[in-house]
Formats: sequence, structure tokens, C-alpha cells
Amino acid sequence: MSISDDVKPILEVSDLNVHYDTGQGPAKAVNEVSLSLKPGERLGLIGESGSGKTTMATALMRLTRPPGRIVSGSVILDGKDIMAMSVRELRETRLRDIALIPQGAMSSLNPVMRLEEQIIDAIAAHTTGMKRAALNARVEELLTNVGLAPKLRGGFPMNYRAA
Ligand SMILES: Nc1ncnc2c1ncn2[C@@H]1O[C@H](COP(=O)(O)OP(=O)(O)O)[C@@H](O)[C@H]1O
Ligand SMILES: [Mg+2]
Repeated sequence: MSISDDVKPILEVSDLNVHYDTGQGPAKAVNEVSLSLKPGERLGLIGESGSGKTTMATALMRLTRPPGRIVSGSVILDGKDIMAMSVRELRETRLRDIALIPQGAMSSLNPVMRLEEQIIDAIAAHTTGMKRAALNARVEELLTNVGLAPKLRGGFPMNYRAA
């Protein structure tokens, strides 16, 4: 893919280090990683189990949890440093500007909660001031985007079929 040289990166990671503190010293799961992505570019990260893919992805969103810790590095998303953001800024940025779809995404959906409630919960957790009508419209838009009929909004995840 050729993206012209004058386009600024949307994501720039510099010298990222993420360690897990263990009884036998730190496990250096992400070691001096730098990368740059421009809008429209895609990057695949390939490696065997335990090579640090999940550690890398979660650190980009500052979702690293103990015993893991981001030791150093910067993650600049659209000009803003994720590592320097306030908790509030982070909450607004996650899902809106950067998101993580975990392995086994189907098991991330609650089978006894209507799909629209789950989507609205997620949007409401990351935005402020959206009215119910706007939330409803957004749910329909999102379902349509992934090829699901809007009427499926009131159903449960386990019953889903592409329309
Ligand atoms: N909870 C943990 N405690 C200690 N070390 C961990 C933990 N999670 C991950 N690691 C270390 O980080 C490495 C990378 O793990 P991970 O990012 O989950 O790899 P991948 O997603 O590529 O399978 C592991 O090989 C292990 O050394
Ligand atoms: Mg993984």
C-alpha cells in the first residue's frame, strides 16, 4: 500500500517496553518496540503463543494490568500521547479512537442481555451526553455496518444470524 510521504502517522509507538514482574525477575514481554502507522495502513503482528502480541495490544490502550507494567515508551495516537492522558481522556479515547477486539469475541457478549443494551452500555461508558434517540440510531448504524438487520437489536447474541 502506498501512502504518500506527507501524510502524518495516526499511530506512533516509540521504544515501548512492557515487563511482567515475576519472582525470577522481570519478563521483558515487549522490548524496545517502535512502529508508525499512517491512516489507511494496516499492520499485522505475528508471533507464536507467548511472544507478546496481547501485551503489545493492551499496552497501546494503556490497559496493562499487574503484574505487567509499562516501563517506558510513548504511544502517540493522532497527535496525543496515550501515556500522558488523564483517566478521563483515556476513557473518551478508548473505543472512539482505539479499540481492541479480544480473541474469542463471541464469548465477550453476554448471552442473556439484549444486544442493544450491550452496545449502548459500551458507548455510554466512553461518551457523555448522548441522548437515548442518538444511542438507538447509533446501534442501528453499527448493526447495519456489519451486515446485521437493525431489527436484531432486541435479540440475544446467541440467536444471531446474518440477515
Ligand atoms: N500474567 C503474567 N505474568 C507473568 N508473565 C506474563 C503474564 N502474561 C504474560 N506474561 C509474559 O509475557 C509474554 C507474552 O505474553 P502475551 O502478550 O500474552 O503473548 P501472546 O499474546 O503473543 O500469546 C509471555 O511469554 C510471558 O513471559
Ligand atoms: Mg495473546
